[in-house]
Amino acid sequence: MNANATATVPVVAIDGPGGSGKGTVSQLLAARLAWHYLDSGALYRAVGLAAQEKGVRFDDAAALAHLARVADIRFEPQASGQPPRVWLDGRDVSDVLRTEETGCLASRVAQFPAVREALLDKQRDFRRQPGLVADGRDMGTTVFPEAILKVFLTASPEVRAERRYKQLKEKGLDVILSRLLGEIRERDARDAARQASPLRPAADAEILDTSSLSIAQAVELIFQRLQQRL
Ligand code: DC
Repeated sequence: MNANATATVPVVAIDGPGGSGKGTVSQLLAARLAWHYLDSGALYRAVGLAAQEKGVRFDDAAALAHLARVADIRFEPQASGQPPRVWLDGRDVSDVLRTEETGCLASRVAQFPAVREALLDKQRDFRRQPGLVADGRDMGTTVFPEAILKVFLTASPEVRAERRYKQLKEKGLDVILSRLLGEIRERDARDAARQASPLRPAADAEILDTSSLSIAQAVELIFQRLQQRL
């Protein structure tokens, strides 16, 4: 699609730290609207994983950016509200992508402006009719600054660690809550401190604290806000 055609496609940008609920909220909102869904974190996770598997050094920005450009990352949408399955260079990596270890690799590669730049077009390609719900850290600030609605979801680190703990336990993974909390704090600090597109709300974003909201309540609130703007 050319730039003029995509400019008319509405985008809802949902940003926030890990465990704020933005993944689930974004998927459910996209399903309710029958819009496309972009999990931008999965792109960074796939690049982190590819770098580790190929033995690319995590301080070699040029090599990491090259990898980001050439990696064949595909999303396979699932039934309503389910996370898409992710394929990296022809392999289904959905499960390993969701681990905290891969999250840390993603956060490390995401620090480099060249890596972020390499992933820009891949992200903007998701902008198709009838609309896009884009989930990440810089959807509203950098990737889709013209989004029709920008939401920044937050929750306390303790609440987020507990949510992650439950998610991972349900998948049968062996996790320790205190360790998760430490990893979440460490990742937040790195994502917020980096120079390139740090984790922060866009000036025109609506901030929504989900600590005491259910997923359904958060989806409903965002859906209502969107109706006022369409
Ligand atoms: O949303 P997530 O937990 O899957 O993201 C994993 C990491 O990727 C996160 O720690 C920072 C990085 N990321 C980013 O820098 N920009 C995005 N738009 C999405 C993720």
